[in-house]
Amino acid sequence: MNSESFTNNRKAFIAKMETPSFALLFSGVAPHKSNDQLYPFVTDRNFYYLTGLMRENFTLLLVKGAKYESEFLFIEEPSDFATKWLGKRMSQAEAAAISGIKVENIRLNQELNGFMHAAVLSDSRKALIEMPKILYLDLYRAKPYQKPKSLQQANELITAYPELALKNLNDILYDLRTIKSESEIKMIEQAIAYTNIGIEALMANAKPGVNERHFDALFDFTIRLHGSEGTAFNTIVASGKNATVLHYEENNKDTVDNDLVLLDLGALSGPYAADISRTFPVNGKFTARQREIYSLVLDVNKKTIKKIKPGLTVAELNKFASDELAKGLLKLGLIKDASEVGKYYYHMVSHYLGLDVHDVGSYQRPLAPGMVITVEPGLYIEEEGIGVRIEDDVLVTENGQRNLSEAIVKEIDAIEELMAVND
Ligand code: GLY
Ligand code: MN
Ligand code: MN
Repeated sequence: MNSESFTNNRKAFIAKMETPSFALLFSGVAPHKSNDQLYPFVTDRNFYYLTGLMRENFTLLLVKGAKYESEFLFIEEPSDFATKWLGKRMSQAEAAAISGIKVENIRLNQELNGFMHAAVLSDSRKALIEMPKILYLDLYRAKPYQKPKSLQQANELITAYPELALKNLNDILYDLRTIKSESEIKMIEQAIAYTNIGIEALMANAKPGVNERHFDALFDFTIRLHGSEGTAFNTIVASGKNATVLHYEENNKDTVDNDLVLLDLGALSGPYAADISRTFPVNGKFTARQREIYSLVLDVNKKTIKKIKPGLTVAELNKFASDELAKGLLKLGLIKDASEVGKYYYHMVSHYLGLDVHDVGSYQRPLAPGMVITVEPGLYIEEEGIGVRIEDDVLVTENGQRNLSEAIVKEIDAIEELMAVND
């Protein structure tokens, strides 16, 4: 994506900030793992959305006064030591080229506190705006009653300037991030294309006895080989009864003949995610019973996708899918009353997708062009060891929808044909 996308994102964000105010966003640091080891670094998605940068320990500062607005970036100082041990640090010129922030506004981390004190939180003649009253921070809480991470990152500042009112910048950003631009949609399509290649590799290498871990590793290997940065979330490979556990991630059981294998996985393209579920018979042929259950889920998957259009809510979409699944279960005699559908279907049919796999945004908001959502009906029949989920990624358009993952095999005949190469 080019710097114009990120410049536009910042413009849209600043337009919604109150005056006089400023916003601070942090790219984050890799979390500690054990002893001197860290987990891989993952850039804060809000920070990425506004800068296009995927580097640790960077800070974005947006300032908005009545007659003035500006953007500053604080980055780690390039040094010979850091270059020798950690690889080359990003230069100010490189950060400017990616983000579209003026190079003269890109400063070093050690200048941040002094700059805040002298140029932002000050009544001096050098101040950029009158003393700001509002500080926008990302107040996302990972768990109830857990302090937002940004409070720790901005702790010194908040303690020194207790008169600042905190506002949650997600109230602005979530709405913006919900509507994807053309270039974001292209990134998601690329993530889906990598996922497609990975899924085909799995189906083409399936046979009874192959361990779930083998499929997991093969997916990772295949997508990375083709250029993806890796998986967007922990891959689920669930065979037989394991497929009735929604977020099964152990992925360590040997498959057995006549198992169905449920895959729920997605590749990354840059920081953008795909989120796809497919279910296939490990021996390449659906049994009659598996066909019955699979066909019902597939039918609901297709009908739910067709239903998508601007104005509808995700709650309405979920109700539609749930009612359709109930009708099918009644026909199959698995339930006696539609109200029992929860016995076999117990999650929502849809969520937003984008920079996060469960992307941000309000579900009170009716669907609108540019939103990307998943459609993922499933049935989980524990007593028969059958779990089926079929998940596609769908763009809401002016007139309806476009299934971005249309090309990923899901018809029974097409799956069996693809897997026939294994015989
Ligand atoms: N992969 C998680 C989900 O489908 O929501
Ligand atoms: Mn999924
Ligand atoms: Mn999903």
